[in-house]
Amino acid sequence: MRVLVTGGAGYIGSHVVKLLGEQGHTVMTYDNLSTGNAWAVLAGELVVGDLADTTLLQATLRDFAPDAVMHFAASIVVPESVSDPLKYYTNNTANTLKLIQAVVAGRVPHFIFSSTAAVYGMPQQLPVSESAPLLPINPYGTSKMMSELILRDCAAAHPGFRYVALRYFNVAGADLSCRIGQAYAMPTHLITRGLKTAQGVFPELLIFGTDYDTPDGTCIRDYIHVDDLASAHICALEHLAGGGASDIFNCGYGRGFSVREVVRVMREVVGYDFPVRETGRRAGDPAALIADSRKLQQSLGWKPRYDDLHTMIRSAWAWEQHYARRHQRP
Ligand code: UFG
Repeated sequence: MRVLVTGGAGYIGSHVVKLLGEQGHTVMTYDNLSTGNAWAVLAGELVVGDLADTTLLQATLRDFAPDAVMHFAASIVVPESVSDPLKYYTNNTANTLKLIQAVVAGRVPHFIFSSTAAVYGMPQQLPVSESAPLLPINPYGTSKMMSELILRDCAAAHPGFRYVALRYFNVAGADLSCRIGQAYAMPTHLITRGLKTAQGVFPELLIFGTDYDTPDGTCIRDYIHVDDLASAHICALEHLAGGGASDIFNCGYGRGFSVREVVRVMREVVGYDFPVRETGRRAGDPAALIADSRKLQQSLGWKPRYDDLHTMIRSAWAWEQHYARRHQRP
């Protein structure tokens, strides 16, 4: 198939581009390189462009004529969405609307959307299933929820257009051959912050909040390896190509680890106790998020391969060491 990947130079997008290439699909990445890197695009052509540039976007769609669009390009930092909501409604909602308009007008039949567990807010029941109410507690989650609703309504109105929204839980780890991984100039995610602290890039890792209603007081998340998440996109593509209906799937393993548990495993993997300090809560954090991902496994035949926190953190650590050698430290 011919697949246009927005955000294909970013962390998750680049792992999906890699897998699409390995599986023989024809890939084109569309990315403004605001957080992505040209070197991370391991398959197909890269078009450097912004989703807001509708002229370039429409021309790219017309010339490449994809069978499917996978849409990763987005802003993803929960606390930043609280302090700068308009950035999130612009990048994640308004630009997604522009893309969907171009995709529908260009008669591209299939769309795979990077959604998020943040659409659930603070779920009443864990693990949370796809039918749980959408009650986001931060602008990031709201910005993605609105895009999901636009997709739902467009699919209902245009019979030739079908989509899958994948609700990612906490994505971690890196390509096992260390070709690609998380490479943000100023990372905010727990595992990357922790491992960069172990490397001495940051003086200490802060634990945000120890008074949550969880067994050890720190937040619980369902961490999923980026290559398992990438394979969920292939399942979604095959589902749509095989005539499957528009649908929504959680992407996680169905179990959670607290921040303290993740810190313990990071210290085990790196082999020493890098500095950690407990501090107050961070804005916008729900106490616990754990996926019920049975639907993805049962309906799409998804088979996770790296459901192990040590494996995930070891792959992230190997990547961080490789990255530090290859690039200047910030
Ligand atoms: N945390 C720390 N210290 C840090 C960084 C994070 O204690 O330096 C804590 C956070 O407070 C949170 C947990 O670690 O409790 C995970 O935080 P991350 O920043 O790694 O990830 P988030 O849960 O905020 O968000 C991620 C993705 C979102 C997605 C969400 C779904 O960035 O896109 O997971 O669970 F929506």
